[in-house]
Amino acid sequence: MVRSFDATPVDLDWLEQRCAEALWAPSAGNAAGIRLHTVSRALVPAFFEAATDEQWRASARRAPGLARAGAVVLVTSRPEDYAARYGEADKAGSGLENINDWSVPYWHADAAMATMALLLLLEEAGWQATIWGNFRHDDRILRWAKIEGEQLFCSVLVGRADGHDVPSASLGRDVPARARRVRRVG
Ligand SMILES: Cc1cc2nc3c(=O)[nH]c(=O)nc-3n(C[C@H](O)[C@H](O)[C@H](O)COP(=O)(O)O)c2cc1C
Repeated sequence: MVRSFDATPVDLDWLEQRCAEALWAPSAGNAAGIRLHTVSRALVPAFFEAATDEQWRASARRAPGLARAGAVVLVTSRPEDYAARYGEADKAGSGLENINDWSVPYWHADAAMATMALLLLLEEAGWQATIWGNFRHDDRILRWAKIEGEQLFCSVLVGRADGHDVPSASLGRDVPARARRVRRVG
């Protein structure tokens, strides 16, 4: 993740092509219930107003660098598409016709897969990005972007790094080494 950008705009035609490529990511039952919404550099300040609050903007050390993102991609899902797909004849008996019965909501899984694919495509093309998880203000973001009937999964802030990144405190956590998080069964 990079959280300080230099305000270089990302061309939205180009970005939307990468978004469409990212949607080659696996999709449960090919439900295709993920949508990617692009926000231009010109609209990044308005996005910030919807996605954050004044106190955060005034106090967060990362706020200025993040606000210089060159574009944003809102990743959303349509849970009803998954309920409908898993209610089709070839999925009969899956017990997944009702979205409240899902132990792993596949719309979140699909959204994560498309997000990861997008991050890799951006990286490959020499751009940087960070993910904002959806933990506050999602209703405001959706209203601002005029998105209806969809859940916000995350916002991907895209841009060129300006070298003033404030590293995430999360990186200093004492976590098990990656190799130790892999286990062979048996
Ligand atoms: C679902 C999800 C939500 C995240 N939410 C945020 C967030 O709200 N703000 C943020 O700065 N980083 C967020 N991150 C990024 C993580 O903090 C980051 O991936 C982690 O600290 C490891 O750092 P690295 O990706 O730079 O290696 C999120 C990542 C994921 C996968």
